[in-house]
Amino acid sequence: MARYEIHGGTPLNGTVTISGAKNAAVAILPAALLVRGTCRIENVPDISDVRILLDILEGMGAKVSRPEPGVVEIDSSGEIDTQPEDTLVKKMRASYYLMGALLGRYGKAHVALPGGCNFASRPIDQHIKGFEMLGADVDYTSNYVEMKPGEFGLQGSRINLDVVSVGATINIMIAAALIPGQTIIDNAAKEPHIVDLANFLNTMGARISGAGTDTVKIRGVESLHGGTYAIIPDQIEAGTYMAAVAATGGNVLVQNVIPKHMECITGKLQEMGVRIIPYDDAIRVQSTGKLRHTTVKTRPYPGFPTDMQAQICVCMSRASGYSRLTESVYETRFFGYCTELQSMGANIQINNKTATVIGVDKLYGANVAAHDLRAGAALVIAGLVAEGTTNVENIHFVERGYENLIGKLTALGAEIRRLED
Ligand code: EPU
Repeated sequence: MARYEIHGGTPLNGTVTISGAKNAAVAILPAALLVRGTCRIENVPDISDVRILLDILEGMGAKVSRPEPGVVEIDSSGEIDTQPEDTLVKKMRASYYLMGALLGRYGKAHVALPGGCNFASRPIDQHIKGFEMLGADVDYTSNYVEMKPGEFGLQGSRINLDVVSVGATINIMIAAALIPGQTIIDNAAKEPHIVDLANFLNTMGARISGAGTDTVKIRGVESLHGGTYAIIPDQIEAGTYMAAVAATGGNVLVQNVIPKHMECITGKLQEMGVRIIPYDDAIRVQSTGKLRHTTVKTRPYPGFPTDMQAQICVCMSRASGYSRLTESVYETRFFGYCTELQSMGANIQINNKTATVIGVDKLYGANVAAHDLRAGAALVIAGLVAEGTTNVENIHFVERGYENLIGKLTALGAEIRRLED
């Protein structure tokens, strides 16, 4: 078993470069299956979710190569297997985008239900509703989703999502790119990676408009062609480093970011007393001493992201007074890390969807375990803050989404090592 050993108490200083966005990459790579040609995709993060996905695509018959660091080339011109290998599919969440990609390209798919971070019940009913509205006949069991064209064939449609879902918005966009007619998604999610996926598909010849608003329109085209596309920087990776600087103290230039995507996070850190200086593609995060308490409610973009809930909770643990943290996307997300933070001395009281976090003078090193990706990132930040030594176990969760975490933190002065027991 691998773990991180962290000796806390050192402020972070220097410059960190943010990698390509995980949640954009895991949508764009399967979407390359729609393209009969070679997609050169740049700024791809080297994380385990991406590696698994590339193995799946290769297993399905796509030609995959990594000509240089951060670049992936995918050629899906040949025949693609419409039944990806179950074991790999079950290892990650975003493998559900293979459903949309196969439906769009072949009108049929047999894909196992995804795995990934199970911090909450994560239904896919809105994805299924979207596929059915596009004319698919869907057999949805507890193990897999099987699709074929329904009685009237596949056709663009108007789909009103019952909940704002990133995954359903993306899956429908991918499928509809090659399905005849116009598809309109109402109540669509607006996250930056949705815009990134639309830009990728449009670069390859798709006709998608409105991405980034709550109405996305897709005019199906006959085919997509190859091309080159660079993935946007990772909003959550950037936010994680910003929270780490806020919690530990110090002064860090976070570069390769889109400051606009960071506004909900920078606003909260400013409220807490952190000095933030935005540049064109970088943000300086400077501690001014003690953190102030604040109130945060997670919301779909442009609100405060649920994927930053755990990291801001660590900052709140170090702030003066009572902070309030309300989760409105995944109700059970607190349980992945709050008990671990409490074992490090944090004072957190959870009442349904809201945690009250009472700032403490110190956190103390402890042996803790990550239960999902962002929970793991928060425990790493807590370890960096804590007095003494912290061991974070289950780090495979963290390695799903943070490229070269040890190298980047070490360069900022952190004392952190990856150990294999
Ligand atoms: N929901 C439904 N039915 C559906 C889909 C979603 O009820 O068919 C509900 C969910 O239960 C949740 C809400 O809608 O309450 C939002 O879920 P969403 O579909 O937006 O989440 P997701 O697509 O499964 C993505 C990210 C998550 C991130 C969420 C919210 C990927 C691969 N995953 O998940 O990222 O937390 O959006 O922003 O893009 C992470 O990176 O650590 C991570 C978990």
